[in-house]
Amino acid sequence: MSELIEVITKDGSSSLRSIFFQENFHSFLGALEETKTKFTAPSDLQRYKDKSLNVLDICFGLGYNSASLLNELLKQKSYLNLYALEIDRKPLKYSLSKKSFLKLWAPKVTEIFEALSRNDFFEDQFFKCKILWGDAREKINIIPSSIKFDLIYLDGFSPQKCPQVWTIEFLSKVTEKLNSQGYLITYSSSAAVRKTLRNLGLEIFSIKPSFNNKTFWSQGTVAISKFDKKKLNPKCNIEKLSLMEEEHLLTKASIPYRDQNLNSSKDDIISRRLNEQLFSNLLSTKKWREKWKMTKSSVKS
Ligand SMILES: C[S@@+](CC[C@H](N)C(=O)[O-])C[C@H]1O[C@@H](n2cnc3c(N)ncnc32)[C@H](O)[C@@H]1O
Repeated sequence: MSELIEVITKDGSSSLRSIFFQENFHSFLGALEETKTKFTAPSDLQRYKDKSLNVLDICFGLGYNSASLLNELLKQKSYLNLYALEIDRKPLKYSLSKKSFLKLWAPKVTEIFEALSRNDFFEDQFFKCKILWGDAREKINIIPSSIKFDLIYLDGFSPQKCPQVWTIEFLSKVTEKLNSQGYLITYSSSAAVRKTLRNLGLEIFSIKPSFNNKTFWSQGTVAISKFDKKKLNPKCNIEKLSLMEEEHLLTKASIPYRDQNLNSSKDDIISRRLNEQLFSNLLSTKKWREKWKMTKSSVKS
């Protein structure tokens, strides 16, 4: 689908850049680091020790999020039913060709990834994994409606570069698949995405930054439908939105991406939103940035 260029990130782990989407797959700070802090830690996987869980990995890419998940679950005898959605087969082929990537995980992960690349499927005593190739907006419909996910990872390119996977209509399909105690986890702290998830009835939390400064004010979002305060593990590093983050959701940046029939082009989704922002009475995002002394670059996806 797209031309891909190898990128070695700051922690030494390999990643890719998409020429088509004009964006890197991971933060320059580290692909491995990003997976661990933004997806694996907030998943609080110890909850599933000796138990079974269903996970949906949207925008599988090289497979860092699934690999890290499998690697942790192998250590604690959990039973996993994994579905992955991805439009392009090349990133997985790249992962399988990269010894340094495969060496990050237990050998079982290579076995599973090889089966996914060859047969789209893997099954053994503990793990049942399936990858559905194609546009996630369409392929999500193939997942049986009886399956509710304990964890959903949403790792698309940023909303500005790939709005197709951040629209109200797509996120509504995604949240329908979330188990009542399930966590939807994304690296994105976009006001539009957060507001959409909140409007869909989920309680939203911010993934705490590892170091707090104006540029890194959040590492992403965890959305939970029936939040149980007693069950929240402090180690998962999530917290209520700060006043600054709440006020972000009152600005024009919170205007959602829309894709009524789930088949719009990127440009149509973006221009529809720009038009809506133009006529909106919501607070200007510039004023919010000025109040909180932020530069444009610190307000990430
Ligand atoms: C930021 S990368 C994902 C990073 C990934 N989780 C990893 O560990 O490498 C985004 C991925 O989304 C995929 N993608 C883009 N548009 C998509 C769509 N409409 N449906 C499914 N996958 C899509 C791209 O091919 C790319 O692999």
